[in-house]
Amino acid sequence: MPVWSDRGSRAVQLDSFGGPEVLDIREVPIPEAGPGQVRVRVTAAGLNPMDWFMTADADTAGRFGLTLPVGFGTDYAGVVDQVGDGVTGFAPGDRVFGGALSRAVADFVVIDVAGGAAANEAHHTPDGVDDRTAATLTIAGRTASAALAVIEPGPDDTVLIGGAGGGVGVFAVQLARIAGARVIGTGSAASADYCVI
Ligand SMILES: NC(=O)c1ccc[n+]([C@@H]2O[C@H](COP(=O)([O-])OP(=O)(O)OC[C@H]3O[C@@H](n4cnc5c(N)ncnc54)[C@H](OP(=O)(O)O)[C@@H]3O)[C@@H](O)[C@H]2O)c1
Repeated sequence: MPVWSDRGSRAVQLDSFGGPEVLDIREVPIPEAGPGQVRVRVTAAGLNPMDWFMTADADTAGRFGLTLPVGFGTDYAGVVDQVGDGVTGFAPGDRVFGGALSRAVADFVVIDVAGGAAANEAHHTPDGVDDRTAATLTIAGRTASAALAVIEPGPDDTVLIGGAGGGVGVFAVQLARIAGARVIGTGSAASADYCVI
C-alpha cells in the first residue's frame, strides 16, 4: 500500500463492531516507536476468520481487550523503518513478519519486540519467503504448529487432517509431512483440486 502523504498513513478502522460493512479506510498519523518497540512499514497483511470473529460484537472484542475505535487484521509482513530505545536484534531495513492484534491492515504498525505472543510480535522474514507469504504465517501457522506439537507425528504415523484446504489445514498438512508422517487430508469438493498434490 503506498503511503497517502508525507504527513499521514492509512489504516482500516471500525467505529462500531460488525461485519465488512463497518470497515473504513482512513488517513491516520504515522505512529512512533517507543522504547522496546519497532515501527514496521507494512507491505502485506493476512486475514483469518479470527479477525472477523474478534470485531463482530462488543462482548467478543472485550475478551481480546479491543475497544472502539479499533483496527483490523492481525498477520502482517513488512520492513522495519524505526527502532525505539533499547531494542536489539532489529534494525531499519530488516524484513519482518508477525502479529499485531487487530491493527495490521495499515501502512504502519508498532510492535513491542518483547511481546512474544501472536498479538504483538516480530520475526525476521527468511530469505526466499516473499512478504505476501510471510503475512499468512503467524496465526494459522502457529495454530497448526501448536496442534501438531500435541500429537508429535513422526515417520511411523498417519495423520488425518480435517479442513486440509483451510488456512490452518494447509500448514498442518505440510508440517506433518515435514515430520515424516503419512498425511490424509479431508475437504469439500470445492477444495479438492487445491488439496491434491
Ligand atoms: N486461523 C485462525 O485465526 C485460527 C486460530 C485459532 C484457531 N482456529 C480454528 O482452526 C479451525 C480452522 O480455521 P481456518 O483459519 O483454517 O479456517 P478456514 O480457512 O475457513 O478453513 C476451514 C476449513 O474447514 C473446512 N470445513 C468447514 N466446514 C466444515 C464442516 N462442516 N465439516 C468439515 N470441514 C469443514 C473447510 O473445508 P472445505 O473448504 O473443503 O469445505 C475449510 O478448509 C477453526 O476451527 C478455527 O476456529 C483458527
